[in-house]
Amino acid sequence: MSRDFTLYSSKSELVQSTARILVQSILKVTKTGRPYYLALAGGRTPRDIYALLAEERNGKQIGKQIDWNKVHLFWGDERMVPPGHDDSNYRMVREALLNRIEIPAENIHRPRGEMPPQAAAAEYDDLLRNTFHPGQPIFDLVLLGLGEDGHTASLFPGTDVLDVTDKLVAAVYVEKLSVWRVTLTLPVLNGAREILFVVSGTGKAEIIKRIMAMKQPDRDVPATLVLPTSGNVRWMLDSDAASLLKNE
Ligand code: 6PG
Repeated sequence: MSRDFTLYSSKSELVQSTARILVQSILKVTKTGRPYYLALAGGRTPRDIYALLAEERNGKQIGKQIDWNKVHLFWGDERMVPPGHDDSNYRMVREALLNRIEIPAENIHRPRGEMPPQAAAAEYDDLLRNTFHPGQPIFDLVLLGLGEDGHTASLFPGTDVLDVTDKLVAAVYVEKLSVWRVTLTLPVLNGAREILFVVSGTGKAEIIKRIMAMKQPDRDVPATLVLPTSGNVRWMLDSDAASLLKNE
């Protein structure tokens, strides 16, 4: 199994390139007149990417050409906390991006972490079905992070959510963290047109080395189960995350 990965010399390079790829992807679709459907990653890594999309740098805002009226934002997963909580992926995006761009409130589709997990998952599942009716959701792009244990979104090793095929969104209890999460399920991720894994830092070097050596998908490393049927997957790595890869 060959993996398409790009190596960046620093996190800053990784962030800038990923932001540029996002902008190009958005513009390519929205200029055709149809909306763009983007699922955002949570965690710490992608925050700088979101911030860069909104940032003015010497008068240039990398995301300036984006017509946010045509972009619909979703979350790949969410923690079961209120939207203003420190751990909220929605809050992270709101502070890095949403508060700094002109985007209609109706284009922002967050899982409601303040609800009970099953209810939040069912509500978000309905939202996706109504947004992408009549069939399977097709995201133009899904940004994903990678945990040191190989999880992505909230698809953690050893959790039942890895086997869910009849739902678009599921609630999952993560034993090792003693928390509930809601997450997009693998059928949704694998229905995407494009997946970008964004991985930074020496803490991810071991799992990246393991993943890049794997010949087959493995449930013990859920990120390897993300194999879009007709979309493509790109791994965006900074030099720290790739530091254990041999220069073959
Ligand atoms: C979350 C994410 C999760 C994250 C990875 C990497 O809600 O935490 O969806 O999958 O992407 O754990 O997180 P960092 O970017 O913080 O290392």
